[in-house]
Amino acid sequence: MSKNFYITTPIYYPSGKPHMGHAYSSIIADIFARFKRIEGFNVLFLTGTDEHGQKIQKEAKRNNKEPKVFCDELSENFRSLTKILNLSNDDFIRTTEKRHYKSVNEIWKRLVQSGDIYLDKYCGWYSISDEAFYDQDEVEDKNGVKVSKSSGSNVEWVEEESYFFKLSAWSKKLLDHYEKNTDFILPRSRKKEVIKFVERGLRDLSISRTSFSWGIPVPNDNKHIIYVWLDALTNYISALNFPDTSNKKFRDYWPADVHIIGKDILRFHAIYWPAFLLAAKLPLPKRVFGHGWILSDEKKMSKSLGNILDPIEIIEKYGIDQLRYYLIKEVSLGNDGSISMSNLKNCINNDLANNYGNLCQRVFSFIKKNCNNKIPKRKNLIKSDLNLLDNLKRNLPKLIKLINEQSLNEYIKMVVNFSFEANKYFNDSEPWNLKKNNPERMNSIIFTISEQIKNISILLNPIIPLSTNKVLETMNISSRDLLIKNISNQDIFDHDIELKEIDILFKKIEDDN
Ligand code: ME8
Ligand code: MG
Repeated sequence: MSKNFYITTPIYYPSGKPHMGHAYSSIIADIFARFKRIEGFNVLFLTGTDEHGQKIQKEAKRNNKEPKVFCDELSENFRSLTKILNLSNDDFIRTTEKRHYKSVNEIWKRLVQSGDIYLDKYCGWYSISDEAFYDQDEVEDKNGVKVSKSSGSNVEWVEEESYFFKLSAWSKKLLDHYEKNTDFILPRSRKKEVIKFVERGLRDLSISRTSFSWGIPVPNDNKHIIYVWLDALTNYISALNFPDTSNKKFRDYWPADVHIIGKDILRFHAIYWPAFLLAAKLPLPKRVFGHGWILSDEKKMSKSLGNILDPIEIIEKYGIDQLRYYLIKEVSLGNDGSISMSNLKNCINNDLANNYGNLCQRVFSFIKKNCNNKIPKRKNLIKSDLNLLDNLKRNLPKLIKLINEQSLNEYIKMVVNFSFEANKYFNDSEPWNLKKNNPERMNSIIFTISEQIKNISILLNPIIPLSTNKVLETMNISSRDLLIKNISNQDIFDHDIELKEIDILFKKIEDDN
């Protein structure tokens, strides 16, 4: 089995400030990246910005800026968001970089070589906001304006000379691929949508535009600009130094293990991208995971509704781990999910402050008061101790499987349950009554609960890295030992470990906050 793992987020349009939806995709990808790392994989985690096309050109103009200057400024917001979200991305790609131009040029040439490109005229609907072409039956009339049925954004009629990609020729191959690779598109419901769309028959795709200039010119015909989606999708291999397919990065990491995207851009990733790759004679990514929408007050966030949630504001107020945890715990990954500030508060209080945070804090202060501030060695464990530890250990393969299927909600539910169980074990064992008469038994209990805090902290680490790192540091567990395989490794505590100071992990949120 290959020990390499390549995961990507969409590259975002830097046409405005990053919002909660962008943060959501990035956090999801980060959690998988972090989990695979502690599982022992060499992970490459890529994110970045998608900077060409009519939408960006238009927005730059509205701001009286040259497109490149505009992108330099706005892309920086997305780069700094990676720090604010505590993402562990290894690279940040911008489509205005040289490495990307080289890669897109080569893809174009390969599509020409395979005979998949021809020159014709495009007549049809185009949405600048989605950077997407729509068929007549995908467009509807709303209050006298034409809009896309799926996204609701305005479309305009376009007639211009254009290069086309012979997408229609690839339908059969795509359908075969979906059938043979049952988990290529997840969740399953999304896969059905895609198959239905392809089965209706694909039309050739316009892949160049001539009515604006901001983008990568078509090789040998530079009045044409390469369609921004062909440009953008290629980022996933530009970051691996394509066209140099013999370099280590490309060999190690292509095909990607999973592209994390929102369901709005599924068609591009599950149909166009694999078709381009097939034509370019490159392997297809192993999986495309299309998550649902984050809704704000039950509605999709949009500028016009004025309900856009700013992740930075929420992080400043409540903390980054709090936001990461909430988004993953409360929004079902495959479906749309509403988020609200009152749910966020409940979630922080119930799961983080009262459950995991409280568990750590009360055990650590007990150790400080009653055990000379040292975690006792493993000794004389009895059935109730072993039951607690074994239950988690036994479920480890299941937890790993859940992550590998992107079933994050189930994963987190199980881990939170372990934390409930541990709290209950601590209460039921009443170590505070044992100090005088049975200190040996007290020590066994404290060893067991400390061991379980270590295990739970490792499992929660991909989701709330900042707080769990604090807990593990307090217990003197080095980042080198922060590995899934150490979950059942009790040797880590085989010497007396002196606890380091720890401050409050999660403050409870009061009602007026
Ligand atoms: O589409 N809920 O960029 P984009 C959940 N540049 N996720 C959301 C969301 C919401 N309300 N809003 C946005 C583009 N997202 C292209 C991608 S990839 C080669 C090119 C997330 O800035 C979600 O992942 O419009 C969605 O697919 C992505 O942001 C779209 O970001
Ligand atoms: Mg969009």
